[in-house]
Amino acid sequence: MHSQSSNNKMHSFIADLMSKMTVEEKIGQLNLSSPPGDIKTGEAVSADAEKYIVDGKLGAVLNMTSLDRIKKTQRIAVNKSRMKIPLLFGLDVIHGYKTIFPIPLGLSCTWDMNLIKKSAQIAASESSADGINWTFSPMVDISRDPRWGRVAEGGGEDPFLGSEIAKAMVEGYQGDDLSLPNTILACVKHYALYGAPDAGRDYNTVDMSRGRMYNEYFPPYKAAVEAGVGSVMTSFNEVDGIPASGNKWLMTEVLRNQWGFNGFVVTDFTAIKEMIDHGLGNNQQVAALALKAGTDMDMVGEDYLKTLKKSLDESKVSIGEIDKACKRILEMKYKLGLFDNPFKYVNEKRQKTEIFTKENRNTARKIAGDSFVLMKNENNVLPLKSNKTIAVIGPLADDQENMSGTWSVAVEPKNNVTLLQGIKNLKGKNNTILYAKGANIVDDKILAENIYLTQVSISIKSPKELIEEAIETAKKSDIIVLAIGEGSEMTGECASRTEITIPQNQIALLEALKTLNKQIVMVLFTGRALDLTDVIEKPEALLNVWFAGSEAGNAITDVLFGDVNPSGKLTTTFPRSLGQVPIFYNHKNTGRPISNTEGKFEKYRSNYLDQRNEPLFPFGFGLSYTTFDYSEISLNSKALKGNEILTSTITITNSGKFDGAETVQLYIKDVVGSVTRPVKELKGFQKIFLKAGESKTITFDITTELLKFYNSDLVYDWESGDFEIMIGKNSNNLKKETVKWIK
Ligand code: BGC
Repeated sequence: MHSQSSNNKMHSFIADLMSKMTVEEKIGQLNLSSPPGDIKTGEAVSADAEKYIVDGKLGAVLNMTSLDRIKKTQRIAVNKSRMKIPLLFGLDVIHGYKTIFPIPLGLSCTWDMNLIKKSAQIAASESSADGINWTFSPMVDISRDPRWGRVAEGGGEDPFLGSEIAKAMVEGYQGDDLSLPNTILACVKHYALYGAPDAGRDYNTVDMSRGRMYNEYFPPYKAAVEAGVGSVMTSFNEVDGIPASGNKWLMTEVLRNQWGFNGFVVTDFTAIKEMIDHGLGNNQQVAALALKAGTDMDMVGEDYLKTLKKSLDESKVSIGEIDKACKRILEMKYKLGLFDNPFKYVNEKRQKTEIFTKENRNTARKIAGDSFVLMKNENNVLPLKSNKTIAVIGPLADDQENMSGTWSVAVEPKNNVTLLQGIKNLKGKNNTILYAKGANIVDDKILAENIYLTQVSISIKSPKELIEEAIETAKKSDIIVLAIGEGSEMTGECASRTEITIPQNQIALLEALKTLNKQIVMVLFTGRALDLTDVIEKPEALLNVWFAGSEAGNAITDVLFGDVNPSGKLTTTFPRSLGQVPIFYNHKNTGRPISNTEGKFEKYRSNYLDQRNEPLFPFGFGLSYTTFDYSEISLNSKALKGNEILTSTITITNSGKFDGAETVQLYIKDVVGSVTRPVKELKGFQKIFLKAGESKTITFDITTELLKFYNSDLVYDWESGDFEIMIGKNSNNLKKETVKWIK
């Protein structure tokens, strides 16, 4: 990355540049916005837009997608503005650019850091070939509340896995050298705790203990910082009573002083202005608060642009504070190589040859296949057999728009492969394929309108007609493949739900088909953990495919027909009912845990009158077409001292008929602590591939680093005592050994 001498060169370059800048120009660098008026393709640039850029009122541009417009905008900045400072071009490149990968929640279920990193590399190379040099990703907000729509954008509920993903994504986007034309600046978001809003309602208040923040919610942000992420986005929510964008403890004490972050902080969309509604003062007051907190760039709200000069004149902020923010932003432009060549991401040749390539789509197909979670497969109904008549039914069976999932801003839906198309593409199986829509995604017109970014179309046929058509089609088949679930935009930003079931009209379709007594393979589309209690008994098989991106249909077909053996494992707990939420595997024990695992109610213990405690599907769960047997754990020692290493080995055997991959998971329980400790915590995992009949012995080397936690003084350390070492196929199916480990 940056050596000492190149750092010195950068610092003197920026010091020199800043010595020539006016205060207004410095404040302009802190502004991320879209130029007013239009910058169209062709020659047109509105006078307002041009003047804004020429006057140096813009440091970075939000969500501009066209190489031609980007080129034109950059040209104005570097040719016509006084300081000739190049602009950053930021976009939400969240799970791919034109080649769309599974939504991040799906990606996380691959448990494959190489593939996740690869997806970010491809996203960086495609978007940079189209003029983008900054992505607002990765989103690493831990969440345990599937009511919250943005669970789709993150890596699930676990801080350890979330940290690995954060690192892989940052490395994928930024590479080893940010100045290369095919790497881009990453932005970890939404710092912090955005995934824990009260009642799962987006943008709502968050309130949690520091212990929980440090141990459970902070780790992925910190991991991104340690991986060298160049920018951090503030969250909309408050943290300890102060909205993140104005929270000095969060932005300066934790982020910079404790974690050593040295990039720049950008707010989320209008988050400074929103502090007015949070009740912290007027525009000028909230902008000053944000600057003083350590927030460097204002997204869209223009409160820095409009008030900081006044605040400086009134001594409400200092020039040192403005300088600091400006310097951090200029440093990142320097590291991207924009001062050397402002047009390095504007390359027509790359645009033509590097976007949506066959190779990228093949990778997307492979990754998608690995993200699917097989949740049920009675009597091995899957993989599907040859020479059959298959009825492909359901509102998500042939809906291109709803394949790519939330936050795929650059997608061209006409390129998305649907399930029906995927199955038709399949050669050599001699199947007859029938199709019927069967139901709308939702019948409720108001709800359909609320879900507005990706259309949920309502058929002109009545719900009854749709079902009848499906029944007639299914009658002619040997087996039904039923594609149901959520629409793309039923998760994502501002898509919280108070019910987390499959829409009732689709359940009605499932129930109607069930009366035919044919085998049903349910292909579930979702961006969150759903409550599947009412449907799980009905289909013989259930494959959860999340939203799988451009190659969705081909990838689902690969798995349904056995060309790919499913290996995804859940990174979010599927509850039995919404009343259990928040439900997560790494909970505390309480003083009154229940003592049975059969779901029997126990009076005066911590449980429900009307529902058992365990989820429907635990964290880490996922089936395969084959079976994996685990040996007992063997340890090099049961009594350890100081910084010795505990070597734990276990042998896994593929005891079934298919080759397949298995993610072996390591959990640790700290039995006695100075503060209460979770019942178990993920501390390692390895994804291995085993041929049918093959065995492999794998090793986890456990160091005291894995035993550490933040105690009540927020000191990060481990404590002597007993530790349970658990290894297995999911958080609820584990082999166990106990060791004593003394300092
Ligand atoms: C979202 C961010 C996103 C930003 C820019 C906001 O509404 O919360 O995740 O990066 O918009 O589009």
